[in-house]
Amino acid sequence: MDDKKIIFSGVQPSGNLTLGNYLGAIKNWVSLQNDYRCIYAMMDLHTITVRQTPADVRRRTLEVLALYIACGIDPEENILFIQSHNSAHAELAWVLNCYTYMGELQRMTQFKDKSSRHAENINAGLFTYPVLMAADILLYQADYVPVGKDQMQHIEICRDIAQRFNAVYGDVFTVPEGLLPKVGANVMSLQEPTKKMSKSDPNPKAYISMMDDMNVIAKKIKSSVTDSEGVIEYREGDETKAGINNLLTIMSAVTKRSIDDIVKDYAGKGYGDFKNDVAEAVVECIRPIREEYDRIIADKQYLMDICSKGAESARRISQRTLKKVYKKVGFVL
Ligand code: TYM
Repeated sequence: MDDKKIIFSGVQPSGNLTLGNYLGAIKNWVSLQNDYRCIYAMMDLHTITVRQTPADVRRRTLEVLALYIACGIDPEENILFIQSHNSAHAELAWVLNCYTYMGELQRMTQFKDKSSRHAENINAGLFTYPVLMAADILLYQADYVPVGKDQMQHIEICRDIAQRFNAVYGDVFTVPEGLLPKVGANVMSLQEPTKKMSKSDPNPKAYISMMDDMNVIAKKIKSSVTDSEGVIEYREGDETKAGINNLLTIMSAVTKRSIDDIVKDYAGKGYGDFKNDVAEAVVECIRPIREEYDRIIADKQYLMDICSKGAESARRISQRTLKKVYKKVGFVL
């Protein structure tokens, strides 16, 4: 390996990816790929913490890969693989489970949220989910983990686990840092703009799927919830402005213009005009990705070849860390 710093990240194939996944994570990955050694995975082990239809998981895993590539991730330059193709993730997660406290896991917002939404299935995997995530990152000695804001708490616990392990056994793990995009780290629901946009939202009008038709995307933005004040202004922390703040953020992220500039353009204008323009800008951003996606997804063999080559590299890199860990904790090698 060269001396570039290492990046690891991934998305769960648990639903169609949203504009939130794109702006919060994947778009940032694209901009990092030239300067770092990047490893991006489809996190299927995480996906089964919530009940899934097996055929959907299988199909979506390749769809996520096709979308990574369509968004601009170069499969020749980066390692792209399916998490379950590298058993080292589950192996390291077991060891790290023994270095993670129940109390820490109980504090995780995502666990509290998912266990209230899936009260009939609060399984142990859902509880130890952040430990598997720590294993994903630490196996590759990642320096940086580009994610959206909702994952920062998981990066924090990953750092705590790494530091705790290092304190006992010496410098085994690189302690990673989370990387947030400048804009778009927290894209909100279009229907309840104080909640994050999520692919598992029961109301499809609340999120923009990267798989939506262009006219559906435009319709969803035009019917997004705003306020009755009629002023296009960004007011951080003001809940009544949450809808407008969100549309301004989305507009800024897809056009690469500053929020201040956009606000100036709309002085004295109404929400109708603004929403039309946001809708057009989002459609223009997603359309080329979709065209590329449609082309790539048709070639399953190409995608499978990328996965198997990626898994081979992933296994090779992670075995080094796993061996070191096994040796440190006293396993006979
Ligand atoms: P997941 O699949 O929920 O989301 C994938 C990425 O998209 C970001 N994201 C958002 N960003 C901005 N606004 C939103 N509304 C929004 N919704 C999602 C997430 O922050 C994430 O970066 N646990 C992870 C997957 C994972 C992982 C890892 C990530 C497993 N192991 C190791 C990094 C490193 C998850 O469920 O992401």
